[in-house]
Amino acid sequence: MKKYIVIGNPIEHSFSPLVHNYWMKKYGLIDSVYEKKKVEEKDLEHLINKIRNDEIIGMNVTVPFKKKIIPFLDKVNIFAKDTQSVNTVKKTKNKIVGYNTDGPGFGKTLDNFYSQTNSKVEAIDSILSGKNIFILGAGGVTPSIISILEQRGGNIFISNRTRGKAEELKKLFPNTQVLDWGKKPKAYDIVINTTSVGLMKDEKINIDFNDCNKDEEKLFYDLIYNPRETNFLKEARLRGNKTMNGQKMFLYQAIFAFHIWTNITPEIDDELIKLLD
Ligand code: ATR
Repeated sequence: MKKYIVIGNPIEHSFSPLVHNYWMKKYGLIDSVYEKKKVEEKDLEHLINKIRNDEIIGMNVTVPFKKKIIPFLDKVNIFAKDTQSVNTVKKTKNKIVGYNTDGPGFGKTLDNFYSQTNSKVEAIDSILSGKNIFILGAGGVTPSIISILEQRGGNIFISNRTRGKAEELKKLFPNTQVLDWGKKPKAYDIVINTTSVGLMKDEKINIDFNDCNKDEEKLFYDLIYNPRETNFLKEARLRGNKTMNGQKMFLYQAIFAFHIWTNITPEIDDELIKLLD
C-alpha cells in the first residue's frame, strides 16, 4: 500500500483525505491510501524518516507545522523558501523536498475570478495592479497569500490582533503596510480574512465595513471554507459586495499537491463538490 498523510493539530476538520482518496480511486491508484494524523512537534522528525524509508510516499502539512517542518527537510522549493511555509512533502532522488501549494492554489482562484469578471483578460502579473488589498490575520498561511498578491501587483495592507506578528511578516515583505487591529486602509478593493475567526459559527470579526454598502466591486474573500459562509462573508453578501470562500483555494492546493506526488492533474468534478457539501 502506498501511504499518504496530512498532519496537523487539530486535524479532525480536514477534508484532504476525502479529496485525495476520491482522486486516487478516480485515477485508478488502487494501491494508494490517504489518511489524517494528529501529531505533536516532537513527532515531525520521525515522520520525515518514514518518508525517507518509503513507509509514507507523500505528506500534506497543516497548522501549526507549516514552518516548523522546514528544518527537517533536505530542500524546499523557491516559493516555500520565500514564504517559509511548506504544505506538501515528497521524496525525490533520495532528498526530502518541501513545496508550498497554498500560494499557487490561492493565485489560481484569483486568476479565475478576475478573468471571469473582466471582459479583457489581463496578464497575470498585473491583474491586481493598482488595487489595495487589506489582509486580516498573520498566521501560518498569510505569507503565501501576500507573496501571490504581490506577484500580481497588489498593494498590501495587513492587520493582525497581535501587531508584532504582522511586523514579522513585514520583514519578509517590506512593501506591506501594517495597520493596528481595528483600523482600515483609506481605500481598499479586496479584504481577505486569513484569521481563524469564523471557524466557529457564531464568531465575528469586529471591524465595521459598512462604508462598503452596495459596493458591488469590492471583494470579500474568506480563506475558511467550513462553514461555507462565515459571518464575514454573510455580512458582505448582505451589503451587496462580491464574496468568495476558501473552497476553491483548498481544492486547487490539493490539485497541485496531487500532481507533485503522482504527475496526474486531477479534476474538480460535480461528484467531488457534492462530497464536500
Ligand atoms: P498560527 O498563529 O499558529 O499560525 P493560524 O491559525 O495560522 O495559527 O492563525 C491564526 C490567526 O487568526 C492569527 O492571525 C490570529 O491572531 P493572533 O496572531 O493575534 O493570535 C488570528 N485570530 C485568532 N483568533 C482571533 C480573534 N478572536 N480575533 C482576531 N484574530 C484572531
